[in-house]
Amino acid sequence: MSALAKHRFDAVNKLQIDQPRLLSRISALGEVGAIDGGGVCRLALTDADRDGRDLVVCWMKELGLAVSVDGIGNVVGVRAGREDLAPVMTGSHIDTVRTGGRYDGNLGVLAGLEVIASLNDAHIVTKRPLAVAFFTNEEGARFAPDMMGSQVYQGDLALEHALDTVGIDGTSVRENLQRIGYAGEAPVGNNHVHAFVELHVEQGPVLEHEGITIGAVTGVQGIHWTELTVEGVSNHAGTTPMALRHDAGFVAMRIAAFAREVAAEMGKGQLATVGQINLTPNLINVIPNRAVFTLDLRNTDADALKKAVDKVFAFAFQVAEEEGVKLTHRPLADFDPVAFDERIVARVESLAKEQGHSVRRMPSGAGHDAQMLARMCPAGMIFVPSVAGLSHNVKEFTHAVDIGAGANLLLSLMTELAEQP
Ligand code: GLV
Ligand code: MN
Ligand code: MN
Repeated sequence: MSALAKHRFDAVNKLQIDQPRLLSRISALGEVGAIDGGGVCRLALTDADRDGRDLVVCWMKELGLAVSVDGIGNVVGVRAGREDLAPVMTGSHIDTVRTGGRYDGNLGVLAGLEVIASLNDAHIVTKRPLAVAFFTNEEGARFAPDMMGSQVYQGDLALEHALDTVGIDGTSVRENLQRIGYAGEAPVGNNHVHAFVELHVEQGPVLEHEGITIGAVTGVQGIHWTELTVEGVSNHAGTTPMALRHDAGFVAMRIAAFAREVAAEMGKGQLATVGQINLTPNLINVIPNRAVFTLDLRNTDADALKKAVDKVFAFAFQVAEEEGVKLTHRPLADFDPVAFDERIVARVESLAKEQGHSVRRMPSGAGHDAQMLARMCPAGMIFVPSVAGLSHNVKEFTHAVDIGAGANLLLSLMTELAEQP
């Protein structure tokens, strides 16, 4: 090692992130779209999302990053390296569900900015460029599928198809991107990234329950989303004999309950959620003529997930026939389980130990942008504990000390990856 390289190595090794600065950015971004209870509502491509984007872009520019916005509204800030090579990227998302917390996604983006700020302060330039990204519509709560921006960035989801997506309020991704001023010019689908690492809150109870600080994420479970529509006949609740009903609401509720039974019967690893259900006309004394609801099924085992999907659908058509109603369905998302790069998983684990933290390997239950980036480059994730395992909840919280541990690990891992040939 040359004297200069040794000096740089020592400087990087001693480097720590500025925890109060990171926390203050998390608080400031948490004020944008703040809702009662300490949470945030920044559904993708709403005015609140735009305001959050504007703030993060402003920070990116203050840190000297070269900011670009692509056709799906992904924002990437790049810090030049000593050599003009593919960057080491970190990032996540800043859109939230309607009743989201301050950490889901936001932590990963702001920790990325904190890595950049710390390197700036120490005047350290890595060999490879570093990039911090926030991807459009990771949540999928307004426009399905989730991880939309990162999948377009990676190239498997066509830009035009994504732009044409119509959301829960009947408006399209395209019109909303234009409205908020984030329909960018940067090309999508042919990007080069050396490696991608995402810091995220666990969003589940495992780390806290086991008293462990760092999760070395091995992969992400498979996700299946469908929207189902049941069409029956509205009629009087007091005059229509039970045997003569074509009750769309009843059929939807039976399918929802059955999905849960399938998960219980299949046991550990199978999850089933009906998170959205809309009945028409939704009145106390009218049999619903229409029910539209969503089904979210997940499993780390692709074959088991397929089995669960098949079981629920077989039951759904059977019960629809029994009730004399029409059942149609629309696929919203279908992602196979993803395994992260073993070298990155192992390095998260060993770095955590070197930095004095307890660590365990674990799969992710939630979807993440890293699972899309994993299709194009070595990728991995770092989890930090979620208090009470709460997420997609305004009470989502992660202790400052854990945020600091995760961000320092991200700093070490990124700077290490950025010296790779
Ligand atoms: C998206 O982030 C999901 O896991 O639902
Ligand atoms: Mn997230
Ligand atoms: Mn989320």
